[in-house]
Amino acid sequence: MESVKIGLLGLGTVGAGTVNVLKRNAEEIERRAGRSVEIVCASARDLNKPRACDLDGVRLVADPFEVVTANDVEVVVELIGGASLSRELVLKAIEQGKHVVTANKALIALHGNEIFAAAQDRGVDVAFEAAVAGGIPIIKAIREGLAGNRIEWLAGIINGTGNFILTEMQSEGRSFADVLAEAQALGYAEADPTFDVEGIDAAHKLTILASIAFGMPLRFADVETQGISAVTQEDVQYAEELGYRIKHLGIAKRQGRGVELRVQPVLVPEQALLANVNGVMNAVMVHGDAVGSTAYYGAGAGAEATASAVVADIVDVVRLLTADPGHKVPHLGFQPHAINDLEVLPPSEIVCGHYIRMRVADESGVLAKISGLLAESDINIDAIQQKEPEGPEDDVTVVMLTDEVREGDLAEALSRIESQSFVRNGIKRMRVAHFDH
Ligand code: HSE
Repeated sequence: MESVKIGLLGLGTVGAGTVNVLKRNAEEIERRAGRSVEIVCASARDLNKPRACDLDGVRLVADPFEVVTANDVEVVVELIGGASLSRELVLKAIEQGKHVVTANKALIALHGNEIFAAAQDRGVDVAFEAAVAGGIPIIKAIREGLAGNRIEWLAGIINGTGNFILTEMQSEGRSFADVLAEAQALGYAEADPTFDVEGIDAAHKLTILASIAFGMPLRFADVETQGISAVTQEDVQYAEELGYRIKHLGIAKRQGRGVELRVQPVLVPEQALLANVNGVMNAVMVHGDAVGSTAYYGAGAGAEATASAVVADIVDVVRLLTADPGHKVPHLGFQPHAINDLEVLPPSEIVCGHYIRMRVADESGVLAKISGLLAESDINIDAIQQKEPEGPEDDVTVVMLTDEVREGDLAEALSRIESQSFVRNGIKRMRVAHFDH
């Protein structure tokens, strides 16, 4: 049977990894897909740049639109990133009746609703396993493997750069900036590393995971997104003393009438699985009503780890070419007419424990006043820590963990505490996350 012809957009880290995996594992891929796969055409901004892969027999072009409109291309593999040009290219490819495989989380999170609708109309597939958690087959796990469940929550470390920074800050006492520079040199960070450290990359991925978990449209703008740039060595150490580690989690959870969608640094109990995912590794826990808690761990970035997911999608698309397209797995796992616009809860409605750190005067009655103001809002303190003043100044740091509380109630109580004259500067808080059961 004739080979399936691929057009590749982008020959960067993941592009080169994809070429290498397709070549090295060609025999296994053909055995699985039923047809061989051949890259016939590829685009790159700089055609003279040396590439980390063998491009023998591949037509190289500078204009990516040549790839998506090429007559011999049946499947377009989009690996250029960004959400603007890639959107135009993917919509053009769909219009041309070509299937698409993409690793582009920003593209799917921001324009997925439009892209899937266009693909549905045109009867082509858009596969995006590599967009979330690199090599971990988490899309397939939720969309297909857990299809019998009502998903209650998922929580994950879905940005390797952020996890690398927090791990090094905790285990080596290194500074934020120093570790970030290393992550960039290792090729894990996004082109704009604020996407990593400010949680935007993780929010893109969480948007996608929430849609396939709950059967809701992609709603990136509704994700409460906080980065890790405000996490200090002091917080890392206090968390450790209290038996916790600070991790940057993406959390999607059913609660009452809606869902929580949030990306933020949280305190995770040190014995919990997610607290022990270190370095650039990713991990996602998914809780289904039937299966209970499940966990998926692996490399969330890197050339061949991401290529692993890209090539798996290519295999799926090739299998589809010989199957009945009417019976394919829907893009978000739910039938398009069954997508529900679930309410995304405002942060004030979220119920969880909190870590609170404040600098206060070392005077009698201060702790009593703080706990009294918390008690007025029925907020219970689970743990409290205060060390002797270190220098001549009469200020001390008080750190507390609260029991579960509605965030709106906590914010009100903290603003009353903040207005007391004994509070020296702003009160810092982070949520505590328990996601093992
Ligand atoms: N910058 C991302 C990360 C790459 O650090 O996880 C994979 O999406």
